[in-house]
Amino acid sequence: MRLAVAVVCLGLGASVATAVATEQLTSFRIVENKAIPAALTGRPGDAARGLAVAADRALGNCLACHAMPVDQPSQGDVGPDLRGVGARLTEGELRLRVVDPKIVDAQTAMPAYYRVDGLYRVRKDLQGKPILTAGQIEDVVAYLKTLK
Ligand code: HEC
Repeated sequence: MRLAVAVVCLGLGASVATAVATEQLTSFRIVENKAIPAALTGRPGDAARGLAVAADRALGNCLACHAMPVDQPSQGDVGPDLRGVGARLTEGELRLRVVDPKIVDAQTAMPAYYRVDGLYRVRKDLQGKPILTAGQIEDVVAYLKTLK
């Protein structure tokens, strides 16, 4: 089995006077460009918190592009309806989707929620920070798993 190891570079700007605070990204292993089998935090997330993160317009903002089984108006249709996604994809596939969907499809419109390098025109105050923390990623994955 071919294993790709994702090594996340930390604090590239650390020696510059204007260094930004970087959340230390945890390293993780991507298997066959398809899945991240192990939880980033080493333990399962919480589905209820994950729903809150996914639905929060200032955090996951998944509703901008996806329909989800929540009672909220204006759900997007740029991406597929997330109902049933927990049956379509494995936990590891779901995790890679949220961490860095560009690995699955380089052309995707979906943002990488746990990545700090190779991004385009990142707001200064957000540079070096992933959109979600490792714990929030795990909570979202736990929520997606419930969408059977
Ligand atoms: C800017 C639009 C956008 C946002 C925001 C977005 N997605 Fe996506 N997502 C997509 C698109 C488009 C796809 C379709 C496949 C592709 O292009 O990669 C997708 C695919 C997916 C898939 C795979 C679905 C399947 O049936 O195979 C999952 C899971 C997913 N997104 C979860 C999320 C979650 C969770 C969030 C919020 C944390 C989110 N997405 C935010 C655009 C988005």
